[in-house]
Amino acid sequence: MSGTVKLTYGGNEWEFPVLEGSEGEKGIDFGALRKKTGLVAHDPAYGNVGSCESAITFIDGEKGILRYRGYPIEQVAERARFTEVCYLLIYGERPTDDQLKKFRSGLTYHTLLHEDMKKFFEGYPANAHPMAIMASMFASLSTYYPDNDPALNDLNIIRVLAKSKTIAAFAHKKSIGQPFIYPMNDLSWPGNFLRMMFAVPSEPYEVPEVLEEALNLLLILHADHEQNCSTSTMRMVGSSEANLYASISAAICALWGPRHGGANQKVIEMLDQIKKSGMSMDAFLDKVKDRDSGVKLMGFGHRVYKNFDPRAKLLKAAADRIFDQLGVNDPLLDMAKQLEEHALQDEYFVSRKLYPNVDFYSGIIYRAMGIPTEMFTVMFVLGRLPGWIAHWREMRADPGYRIHRPRQIYTGENEREFVDMGRREL
Ligand code: CMC
Repeated sequence: MSGTVKLTYGGNEWEFPVLEGSEGEKGIDFGALRKKTGLVAHDPAYGNVGSCESAITFIDGEKGILRYRGYPIEQVAERARFTEVCYLLIYGERPTDDQLKKFRSGLTYHTLLHEDMKKFFEGYPANAHPMAIMASMFASLSTYYPDNDPALNDLNIIRVLAKSKTIAAFAHKKSIGQPFIYPMNDLSWPGNFLRMMFAVPSEPYEVPEVLEEALNLLLILHADHEQNCSTSTMRMVGSSEANLYASISAAICALWGPRHGGANQKVIEMLDQIKKSGMSMDAFLDKVKDRDSGVKLMGFGHRVYKNFDPRAKLLKAAADRIFDQLGVNDPLLDMAKQLEEHALQDEYFVSRKLYPNVDFYSGIIYRAMGIPTEMFTVMFVLGRLPGWIAHWREMRADPGYRIHRPRQIYTGENEREFVDMGRREL
């Protein structure tokens, strides 16, 4: 505890404890607010609400700091492999060599989907959005692994991380009408996924190192971001004791929206539209600033970052490198850079502290890697899974966790009589 705050209302005064996190973040403990005062805290978009205590990820939005379990994102991105980051986020510490070997062998052993699940893919229309397929496949996994016993949590975690890439790649193959490519277990996690995405049965395929490295980086940069919309959904659904697969399915749906993970797809669509229309950057930004247009600068702005998003900084630098290595020349990359430059000099964006977020450059890199636009948010899912799992596990490990159940301020009609109008026959 770090002192108290006093609340006065209606001639009464109450004291509430102030909590302090390990980085000096402070929050009022309002756990007893309603009991003591009869009042509830009203903050519909939770901008000022600490919904839990968590030891997984630290963000200082004013300073542009992001750390996984205390490790700066810049160092993790440069030095780690995705599977080690999964372990770190979920279990709290970096694995020993033996732990990592065992973890990785689990991730390869469990990559296959039950053969019956292939039939589900056949039922979707060819143009089904892969995020819808991901969400329903994850809910379906709970029909194959229905046991919600906490003793099986570790096995289910492995299954999720192992099978997610197979589901994602199958969803892509289904959309282009090609046969599924089965996982090959001597490949790395990103390498295995890339092969399932891009190989065709009759031809040899060697995973290009540049793609494997780029994907490793992208997955790591998306791996966790504390209490965002999809992670809060994961905790919310998990708090009802829903199983891991069902909770992930809900989190996938939350991520899909264009204000959240769906923004990476929208950034490319926006740049494409600007290009096709021949509009200048300033003319487009004028549209964004016009309230009535309903147009937003996708890939810009963040609830927490008010200075810069460190993930976007890393991705912008990586984009140049990856484009060079791939020998790709995409006019959309130059357009994105110009758009960023114009926006960062514009009073509208400066005064609102709007900066590029992780989605601004990620889509351009995915595109250069040959990943189709509709798969971008699926790529976000693959990266974010360890974060969701870590939060779900952290919450469920707390013996005192309760079902999430916010209150509301009711603004509807007062009591009125439901007059019998003799409508039973209608
Ligand atoms: N383009 C134009 N104006 C914007 C934008 C934008 N991208 N983002 C925020 N604003 C304006 C907003 O209209 C408001 O203006 P005013 O104060 O005049 O009413 C002001 O900036 C503050 O924004 P806000 O709506 O209070 O911000 P928020 O914290 O509620 O929303 C956001 C955050 C990310 C949903 C929003 O910035 C946005 O919609 N950005 C575009 C979509 C996007 O890139 N999303 C990816 C987020 S990062 C990856 C992830 O975690 O999913």
